[in-house]
Amino acid sequence: AIDPQFHENRDQVDEHEGHSVWGPVDEPEELGIHGTHVAVDFDICIADGACVEDCPVDVFEWIDTPGHPESEEKADPAKEAQCIDCMLCVDVCPVDAIDVDPG
Ligand code: SF4
Ligand code: F3S
Ligand code: ZN
Repeated sequence: AIDPQFHENRDQVDEHEGHSVWGPVDEPEELGIHGTHVAVDFDICIADGACVEDCPVDVFEWIDTPGHPESEEKADPAKEAQCIDCMLCVDVCPVDAIDVDPG
């Protein structure tokens, strides 16, 4: 599962579409965590898609990640600022790849 303390245990190594990327990153096999308020651990995500389908405010967008061992698409928290903290995505992800911190 995603580390809920990732912002303390990892370094912000990049930005992607206006949100942070938390390392380590070693493309294409290791992609890190995308987002801060809505954080998706790309190295855990298996592209199940429940988060993309269920988010009521369309925070997520698919991005292609060819060569990643878990899946070649990831749910990117492209519009994390729109999140209303409903926690649906956290509940539906089968591999616990998402952390939402309402604080
Ligand atoms: Fe969308 Fe709710 Fe997840 Fe926020 S907590 S990203 S609003 S599903
Ligand atoms: Fe990935 Fe979990 Fe969403 S596996 S696509 S973060 S439901
Ligand atoms: Zn991203």
